[in-house]
Amino acid sequence: MDGSLELKREGDVNSGGLRAAWLEQLSAESRLVLGFDEAVFMKQAMSTPCMNVIVDAEGCYITDQSGKRYLDFHGNSLHQVGYKNAVVLEAVKKQLSTLPFIPRRYTADIAVQAAQALVDKTTSGDFRVLFTPSGTAAVGLALKIARKMTGRYKVISMWESFHGAGLDAISAGGEYAFSKDMGPLLAGCIKAIPYNGYRNLIGSDCPQTIADFCLDYIEYIIRQEGDIGALLLEPIRATDTHVPPPAFFRRLRQLCDRYGLLLIFDEIPTALGRSGAFYVHQLFGIEPDILVLGKGLGGAVLPQAAVLTRARYDCARDVSLGHYTHEKPAAGCAAICALIQYIDEQHLLANCRLQSAFAAQCAAELYQKFSCIGDYRIAGLLISFEIVQDRATKAGAALLAERILYECLKRGLSFKVSSGSCMTWHPPLIVSREQLTTAFDIFAEAIAVAEQSGTDEAEYET
Ligand SMILES: Cc1ncc(COP(=O)(O)O)c(C=O)c1O
Repeated sequence: MDGSLELKREGDVNSGGLRAAWLEQLSAESRLVLGFDEAVFMKQAMSTPCMNVIVDAEGCYITDQSGKRYLDFHGNSLHQVGYKNAVVLEAVKKQLSTLPFIPRRYTADIAVQAAQALVDKTTSGDFRVLFTPSGTAAVGLALKIARKMTGRYKVISMWESFHGAGLDAISAGGEYAFSKDMGPLLAGCIKAIPYNGYRNLIGSDCPQTIADFCLDYIEYIIRQEGDIGALLLEPIRATDTHVPPPAFFRRLRQLCDRYGLLLIFDEIPTALGRSGAFYVHQLFGIEPDILVLGKGLGGAVLPQAAVLTRARYDCARDVSLGHYTHEKPAAGCAAICALIQYIDEQHLLANCRLQSAFAAQCAAELYQKFSCIGDYRIAGLLISFEIVQDRATKAGAALLAERILYECLKRGLSFKVSSGSCMTWHPPLIVSREQLTTAFDIFAEAIAVAEQSGTDEAEYET
């Protein structure tokens, strides 16, 4: 199998005529830097060749070398409080000039404050914290904690999922783009079918039926396989905004309790207010045993991740679980405290919900207008649009999607395309109604122009 669609699942298409044409129209200075970039960095799927050269990032915007600004609804899902957030920057600068580093075996007020602030945001307040320098390290740590606590190494995770690029994370992850050519992965990683309310193996559009189908299969695996220690998933998948019904989560929790599995939620791209709740699972009235956080935790300034584990599983004194050089990262902790303060003081959850309702209104209008929008899904400021050839068949229109992306970029709107034809927007929580209006206007114009181009999807490499 050539696997090219699988290679597109997590990110945009980086090759092909449309990308070449986009690069062509950039300034000579930008193309020079892109050339240097290509000469010095190793090339890798989904990252190279780079899209453009940027010189500034502030609020909801990035600015390229020729001064063009883009509303950045991609932002690697990390800019909940916007880029160059003054409160975060000030806190980090202050921390760097007082206590920039906390060596292992020591602690500091700022580390305790940051960990406590994260715990205070949970529903039960009954968690213990470990920090890690990246999301993938946090996922690996969560798997280690589950092994230690259950004495079982097997984990169920979802096909199509992404949990980071480390060997342990790609073992649990369900994307070919990451496991391709990587040889034997971690033993005991078993894949289940992810909830997908739009395209699923049973051809259903009933959320409860789909949820039951997915959960019946998970229960079947648990019974057949035995010895499973953990279940790992994103409660709302960031790349395409599939939102299972609350009953899905209640039964998931019950299954884990009945069979003794630890429930691990990877909320790395979706927590910290993005869904309209501080933590995503708070939308569904259950708590995981282990919660994995990252991305926006560093306030769009620093790499920072964390693992929150239910207090009753704080019993691994005899092993070194998260022996990281930056185990209590002073600047990262300052960023966490400032981030939470900013989210609270600026009422960003309320803004998220307000703008989400407005986005839903705008999306409904576009859905009426353009038949190439097969579906749209919105949870807080997690927003996805399916671009299709035909609403009845739901066949993805990858070429049209790519055209729309470049038409949007030309007009100053950046976002992610996953699985070839799913467009995902993750606006910062500070986004305004005016900025969303601009984004939807650009999107509508881009779709109209892209549709005019005449697209032969069959000829487009999938
Ligand atoms: C759901 C999910 N888990 C884990 C990760 C890995 O995080 P990091 O890139 O910080 O290693 C990502 C990053 O995109 C992610 O989206």
